[in-house]
Amino acid sequence: MWSLLLASVLTACTGGGSDSAEVDACADQPIVTYETFGAGFLTENCQSCHASTAPDRKGAPESVVFDTVDDAWAQRDRILARAAIDTPEMPPLGGTTDDDRARLKIWLTCAEEGT
Ligand code: HEC
Repeated sequence: MWSLLLASVLTACTGGGSDSAEVDACADQPIVTYETFGAGFLTENCQSCHASTAPDRKGAPESVVFDTVDDAWAQRDRILARAAIDTPEMPPLGGTTDDDRARLKIWLTCAEEGT
């Protein structure tokens, strides 16, 4: 369902408005926030090791927790570097979809900081 939505949004951008000369990679992206995506994504894919309350962190650093929207934004650059790349290193055993990673990148790149 999301892939269809994303695909149609991305296709819509390539149509291109001739009057928008400036390049804004975020302008035509769907709105993705902690509330609509990030919280669920982090809970499902990361918090089993990274939550401050995780009973078995499997070695995840104590300082790297994603309990709140602020925690997530505080780690923004590292989340993007480890989890939003084509061959993600987090979660260590993989399992995120291309769509998830596309949305992760849109969220932490395009959303208003802290949302
Ligand atoms: C199975 C346990 C596990 C899961 C699930 C997991 N991590 Fe980790 N994470 C680790 C361990 C262990 C380390 C420390 C070793 C390392 O950095 O590779 C770590 C380190 C990190 C770091 C700090 C290192 C750095 O590069 O700054 C970040 C950021 C991170 N993880 C993000 C994530 C994100 C985002 C997710 C979910 C998409 C996730 N992790 C899921 C175990 C996990």
